[in-house]
Amino acid sequence: MPQPIIEVREVFKSYSPPAGKRFFFRTVKKTAVNALTNINLQIYPGEIFVIVGLSGSGKSTLLRTLNFLIPPGKGEVLFQGQALSALSSAEMIALRRQQIGMVFQSFALFDERTVLDNVAFGLEVAGTGREERHLRAKIMLEKVGLGHVVSHYPHQLSGGMQQRVGLARALVVNPSVLLMDEAFSALDPIIRREMQALLLALQEEHKRTLVFVTHDMEEALRLGTRIAIMEEGKLVQVGSPENIINAPATPYVRHFFSGVDTSRWQLAETYAEVWNTP
Ligand SMILES: Nc1ncnc2c1ncn2[C@@H]1O[C@H](COP(=O)(O)OP(=O)(O)O)[C@@H](O)[C@H]1O
Ligand SMILES: [Mg+2]
Repeated sequence: MPQPIIEVREVFKSYSPPAGKRFFFRTVKKTAVNALTNINLQIYPGEIFVIVGLSGSGKSTLLRTLNFLIPPGKGEVLFQGQALSALSSAEMIALRRQQIGMVFQSFALFDERTVLDNVAFGLEVAGTGREERHLRAKIMLEKVGLGHVVSHYPHQLSGGMQQRVGLARALVVNPSVLLMDEAFSALDPIIRREMQALLLALQEEHKRTLVFVTHDMEEALRLGTRIAIMEEGKLVQVGSPENIINAPATPYVRHFFSGVDTSRWQLAETYAEVWNTP
């Protein structure tokens, strides 16, 4: 096994309750939400690591601890063996700009900038000259199939196209890790399939480490090298698609597959057995 690019060690995160509300003469106490409970995991270079679970299970919180947008309450996150808690603010900013990119469900594009300038933004911040950043942004936009709309503004594009811009913007700085939080969840099913295919094609060409959050098991199976399943702030199972389908660790995991066509992976497991049996 190579060295993990990201390692999560005994991470806990709870959100403190809003201040107790006074209700007549009593103060109604609210308890803290344990969003993450003792999370341990390793993510390896070049894999698509998918985090899947129901809404509220802690996926976004976990994803955001990976670049310390949410620092854990307890535990440690390491990037290439380096503890993130030890970084200075300047190092943390550099890490987020250069090493660990992020793509959001809501696109988060700049309305007043052209598509080209949206994509070139990260390079601009890094001090790359105008000509070079425009060239690199144009090349990246061509890779995501948007070479023809570089001078458009975001509002002139469909949701799927806007998310391609979001993807290009994250990729143009050439990060080693890309965090994606429900990045395709707002898109129509057909566009969503196209985006999944695009992501896999880009991954073929240039293997990055992707950490992809979704609540959709079908999407998880389509994209994941390995899948981590979260339930109420805990990791209940981490494994390959075949592994999880053929040996679900809990009834919750099994329940997740109801209605999903898993025959492709079951077949793969059967073949694996044939190959591996002496
Ligand atoms: N900023 C916050 N303040 C208080 N509670 C939060 C906050 N963010 C998330 N939570 C709670 O933490 C739990 C996990 O949330 P989240 O990580 O967003 O889950 P998911 O992404 O799987 O939907 C939920 O119970 C949610 O209500
Ligand atoms: Mg979320």
